[in-house]
Amino acid sequence: MRTQNAPTIRLKNYTPPAYTIEDVELKVQLDPHTTQIKSKISFSRERGIKAGTPLCLDGDELKLISISLDGRELDHQEYKATPQALVLRTPPKTKKFILEVVTELAPVENKKLMGLYQSNGVYCTQCEAEGFRRITYFLDRPDVLAVYTVRLEADRTDCPILLANGNRIKCGKLANNRHYAIWHDPHPKPSYLFAMVGGDLDVYSDKFKTASNRKVDLNIYVETGKAELASYAMGALKRSMVWDEEVYGREYDLDVFNIVAVSDFNMGAMENKGLNVFNDKYILASPDLATDTDFMHIEAIIGHEYFHNWTGNRITCRDWFQLCLKEGLTVYRDQEFSADLRSRAVQRIQQVRILKSGQFPEDAGPLAHSVRPEAYREINNFYTATVYQKGAELVRMLATIVGPKAYRKATDLYFKRHDGEAAVVEDWLKSFEDTAKIDLTQFSRWYGQAGTPTIEVKDSFDKNTGRYKLNIEQSLKPTPGQKNKRIVPIPIRFGLMDRDGNELPIVTKSKAVSNDVILMDKRVMSVTFEGLEAKPIPSLLRGFSAPVHLKYNESDKSKVLRAQHDKDLYNRWEALNGYALQLLIKDTKSRISGKKNKPDERFLTALIATTFDETLEPAFKAQALAIPSGQDVAREIGKGIDPDAIYEARKALQIAIGKALENDGLKLVVQLRNQIQVADEAEATGIRSLANTILPYLVLAKINGALELTQKLYSSATTMTDRLGALHPLLYCQSDNAIANAALDKLFKRYRKYPLVIDKWFSIQASLPGNKGLKRIKELSSHPLYSLENPNRARSLLGVFAAGNLSGFHRADGKGYKFYADQILAIDKINPQLAARLLTLMNNWKMFEKQRATHAKRELTRIAKTNGLSRDTQEIVDRALG
Ligand code: TRP
Ligand code: ZN
Repeated sequence: MRTQNAPTIRLKNYTPPAYTIEDVELKVQLDPHTTQIKSKISFSRERGIKAGTPLCLDGDELKLISISLDGRELDHQEYKATPQALVLRTPPKTKKFILEVVTELAPVENKKLMGLYQSNGVYCTQCEAEGFRRITYFLDRPDVLAVYTVRLEADRTDCPILLANGNRIKCGKLANNRHYAIWHDPHPKPSYLFAMVGGDLDVYSDKFKTASNRKVDLNIYVETGKAELASYAMGALKRSMVWDEEVYGREYDLDVFNIVAVSDFNMGAMENKGLNVFNDKYILASPDLATDTDFMHIEAIIGHEYFHNWTGNRITCRDWFQLCLKEGLTVYRDQEFSADLRSRAVQRIQQVRILKSGQFPEDAGPLAHSVRPEAYREINNFYTATVYQKGAELVRMLATIVGPKAYRKATDLYFKRHDGEAAVVEDWLKSFEDTAKIDLTQFSRWYGQAGTPTIEVKDSFDKNTGRYKLNIEQSLKPTPGQKNKRIVPIPIRFGLMDRDGNELPIVTKSKAVSNDVILMDKRVMSVTFEGLEAKPIPSLLRGFSAPVHLKYNESDKSKVLRAQHDKDLYNRWEALNGYALQLLIKDTKSRISGKKNKPDERFLTALIATTFDETLEPAFKAQALAIPSGQDVAREIGKGIDPDAIYEARKALQIAIGKALENDGLKLVVQLRNQIQVADEAEATGIRSLANTILPYLVLAKINGALELTQKLYSSATTMTDRLGALHPLLYCQSDNAIANAALDKLFKRYRKYPLVIDKWFSIQASLPGNKGLKRIKELSSHPLYSLENPNRARSLLGVFAAGNLSGFHRADGKGYKFYADQILAIDKINPQLAARLLTLMNNWKMFEKQRATHAKRELTRIAKTNGLSRDTQEIVDRALG
């Protein structure tokens, strides 16, 4: 069946449900092939709804076994059941009635990883967004909140652990080696927050006492033998609980908080009430198996899911168009959590990198949509960088506009007003309007307009009056389906500096300026500053205070000055990184016309100065030294992209940096390695990241002794961070294949039994550039440990290939696209959500030069015309083709 014509769901057609559900009882008999689900649902007709109004319940691939209403088994004429729906045409006239339904599922056959499935023999569920309807017929929409009681029954040997949301109220042994557990969740919740788990799991436990002295049991369940690997995650959970109490005044609200880690999972993790389910990649860690970046992600995602308990669960979303209400806000909360616990500047740099590499292209391409979309065909396709990352930026801008005190008051009010409700974006904004006494009508446009606005800044100085003027203009190009764009308010955090890098006092009569923020809320605006002796150097968009493109024609000299003196660390980084980006763009263009640029001494000198600046932390220096990715350069060039030219330009700059660092760089690496011996964990992380950023440059520039040092560091590495930090240059920065292959084999042999490390082994090879890349990737795709059923494994090869290997994927002969399309089509038959998500990595095909774009279009068209394509993939491919 062609799914091309799947109906479009629209925000403007939202209607409240005719019936609500007060109470749900589920009785579950777990079995790999025939799990039986008995549901008993108490319905209540909503006020104003006519008695006898049909009741339509959602289903998805369901098999109905029996159905009864108020205790009476129904006749075939009294209902209509298909795998997708259950309809009672004439339900009872009474206000309340009880429906009992039995369905049968086969968890082992469920490869979509939505609903109830098995991961390595562990039963688990994923219900967001529309997975509950794969378990039983239901009003599977987020504005139907019910109280759940769940009785799980299973074999005692296969499933000694039985979990569901809330508190366990009863358990016991049964005949035939079976047992049961009953869980009750007192908090009314939408079905997408339902979860249950059964399996043979080990547990890492701890306790937490809330601010008001409530005791909470904390458990992290993992596959057997892996309990110790959950200790870092447990620490992160406790830090999250403390942080939410201190920063938002939010306490945990059940006696137990359970987390289960599974190895097959479509996304990062899921915030099910009292029973989070995680991709085990974001739980399991030890220094030997996980990198420092992994540890950082674990902390952030543990925080994210925990923070959802208030922003998502206690206050949920009325409909899926409001997704940013929980996701944008919760991402902002996890970002601030990480910023408070780690280096704020380094965190902000990383957040902006993610925003620019993931969200900006989305906003500039065929899938552009607003933070609150207006229409969708498949909701799974709207868990996007725009909803998550740009959604978080909108919250950040609100916080900047009202200031920290009013921000806290506004969130307090939001929690007080809407606790227990399914809310909309307007409710969120109203809490800010009412506390800060401001009008957010204009701000609300940010939620409805796709595309990244540009602010263009021009400045002038009048010597005679001492006045300095900034002329600012905002613009926003049309996006698919949205021609006319309106003005949005843009908070521009800024400062003025003198030529020695000192911060100047801000004197202005402009009402648009308060403290260090210009609120730019017109199409054009000019702001005048007074009392200046000479033309100042502006530092604009400090901390990346708004998700916009900033155009300001800055001299290289002032970039260097800001790189050394800007009091905003984020902007110090931006000055250098922006400088490098300009160099790479220029050199790429030269190379396209057969020339090449000389190394830019001014830039190199500034970069070296930063590298050896005693006042800066190593983690920051590492960020400064990490030049823009090929994708960054491609995005900025925007059209006619030739990946090979970008690759050559980047390589030339890397060699130039290596040569500039030379022996001092080598000495620094050795010195940093020694410092690690005496550093604490946070410092050591920064030091490792700096050393590992420098090493590839030295090897690439063939600095004497660099390759030998790298080999030595690889064989003596005691952490995964250092192992991969040395492996990378061995693979990519020197040309002896024997060295590279031996290093890879060593990693493989040592970690064969550790799937999360084997993922890394696949990933690191997926970046092999140029025409050699595809050959290796094809070989890996027939490796016995490769699998399209395990999302982490498929992503480790395909995701990294398409997103991170510019020259290998975007080959001129189109063979990269062809291989990728074949893989997507194979995955689509197994797991449509995964296929669709991977396919989005081809969205920007139109940016590439003609030959490549033609090949990409051909492959996309081939996918689009395939019979039996899933709704997920069909929607993405149709939109990509435009
Ligand atoms: N709500 C989850 C989060 O952001 C997202 C999520 C997890 C999800 N698994 C999913 C979304 C499966 C759609 C489908 O934390
Ligand atoms: Zn989330």
